[in-house]
Amino acid sequence: MGPHAASRPLTLSEQADELEERMMNELNDKVATKSALFNLADGNLDYVSGAELQARNPGKYFLMGADPRLPKMPDKPTLIDFFKHRFVSMNHLLQSATLALKAGHEEKVVLACLLHDVGVAGFIRCDHGYWGAQLIEPYVDEEVSWAVRVHQALRFFPDESVGYKYPDMYLKYFGPDYKPEPYIVEEYKRARVHKHYMTARLICVNDIYAFDPDAKVNLDDFVDIIGRNFKQPKEGLGFDNTPSSHMWRTLMWPTRFL
Ligand SMILES: [Fe+2]
Ligand SMILES: [Fe+2]
Repeated sequence: MGPHAASRPLTLSEQADELEERMMNELNDKVATKSALFNLADGNLDYVSGAELQARNPGKYFLMGADPRLPKMPDKPTLIDFFKHRFVSMNHLLQSATLALKAGHEEKVVLACLLHDVGVAGFIRCDHGYWGAQLIEPYVDEEVSWAVRVHQALRFFPDESVGYKYPDMYLKYFGPDYKPEPYIVEEYKRARVHKHYMTARLICVNDIYAFDPDAKVNLDDFVDIIGRNFKQPKEGLGFDNTPSSHMWRTLMWPTRFL
């Protein structure tokens, strides 16, 4: 029984939370916890302390490792393992990279296209370019991570020289009045004069804005390019003590208590 029960009837959202919590606990010997961010995404600032959560789950310990509801990851995970077992939307990345490959771009550009939305696929939509770049930074050429970072800003600004227009999809998604925030405008201005500008621009050009659920794409087509251009650590992603190791571990174990 939750803490609300004594004082007032549960709201619908509290009932849903309690059901979700019960289901979580039935699935696990151990109690999986939701981080603050996951609750924020549901529009609430709820915080349940460890003591309270344990009181609701008598006799149980908190999960401090793999969540059994998610696909099992190997001890030394590779980028391919994350593609297969953690990224929620591989198709868009593969379609974009396939387009870049067919257009004959160099491998760095193909890799940048393959990884451009790992932020969305693995973490979060907000500022996905920045998250994605930080995640891959220790393992790729700085041109690739830089391009992934700034494609987020560039995609709002046309470049006639390569036939890139403001995406129709954005008009549909954000409305005709949407204007990028000042930090995006500033990022664009800096990127416009950067030596790797065209790499980031090519991400936008090869970004698929009309998603085709039936497109035939295959991760196997990119295994060699990943092998040559992504420095897979021998210890496995998450265990190699880089500035983004903790991000890979969080992707692996998103419901650890700490
Ligand atoms: Fe993107
Ligand atoms: Fe994209």
